[in-house]
Amino acid sequence: MSVPMPQHAYVDGQYMAIRDATVPIEDRGLQFADSIYEVCAVLNGRLLDWPAHLQRMRRNLSALFIPLSHSDAALGQIARRLIAGSRATDGLLYIQVSRGSARRDHGFPGVVHPRLMMTMRRFDFHQRAGQQARGVSVMSIPDQRWGRVDIKTTNLLANVLAKQDARAAGHFEAWFVAEDGTVREGGSTNAWIVRGGTLHTHPLSAHILPGIARDSLIRLARAAQIPVVEAPFSLDDAKGADEALLTSTTAPLLPVVSIDGQPVGNGTPGPVAARLASLVADEIHRQTGWRSR
Ligand SMILES: Cc1ncc(COP(=O)(O)O)c(C=O)c1O
Repeated sequence: MSVPMPQHAYVDGQYMAIRDATVPIEDRGLQFADSIYEVCAVLNGRLLDWPAHLQRMRRNLSALFIPLSHSDAALGQIARRLIAGSRATDGLLYIQVSRGSARRDHGFPGVVHPRLMMTMRRFDFHQRAGQQARGVSVMSIPDQRWGRVDIKTTNLLANVLAKQDARAAGHFEAWFVAEDGTVREGGSTNAWIVRGGTLHTHPLSAHILPGIARDSLIRLARAAQIPVVEAPFSLDDAKGADEALLTSTTAPLLPVVSIDGQPVGNGTPGPVAARLASLVADEIHRQTGWRSR
């Protein structure tokens, strides 16, 4: 009996196996990075923070004037069908919307047909438990990105190069540092430090992505009476902090135990990171029923 191929991709109204999914050569996402994206965690077959991801995606679409006609309900239906079709319970749902295909010309085409693409790939969130226990290292790198990184576009070349440099040097993440020495965020994560029991993270601005995990951590920390300050901090502040950490959809909370080879605090995950990690784990469990092994 033949087993049907998992269908974990969606492009322009069609469901298919990911290896059969393609886009035309004149897609503007491919030609100009003229597209936005979202990455959502799927745990126990359920989407984490789905309304927040939809809301951010709508904001990005309107910032770039991409007229996606799908309703939130239609997007949710496609996502759920892909999750079921993938036969994975834990994974990452990737959504991309480009300004569609058109003869190559920088200005917008007269008539725009946005292209909606989604994939669902298996992802092992349990692997994060070990990293959470050990902590991870980061290295600093000059921020050479464009001036609107608050819009989640597929224009990620600076992030790709920064993360490759970090990986080649044996680090988990690269932290982008502005010319004035301010730590902005990581290549694909938001950056945090802890000083005197208070959490600090860069304020929302054009220079950081408004991370869904960042927003969630701020709410969880405040609800647990852990003070949070959204204000810039420098690389020197980070190196001299009691603790440091990073957050993202794929790494909900990881302690940072060294920066540029210098230990943060005593070089091991600290008590505030441990407390926050347990708040995040409880929230994930509340929404999806998922627990780390
Ligand atoms: C540059 C950057 N900052 C922060 C984040 C974290 O955002 P989120 O928590 O929504 O995953 C990401 C995620 O991809 C990112 O690419």
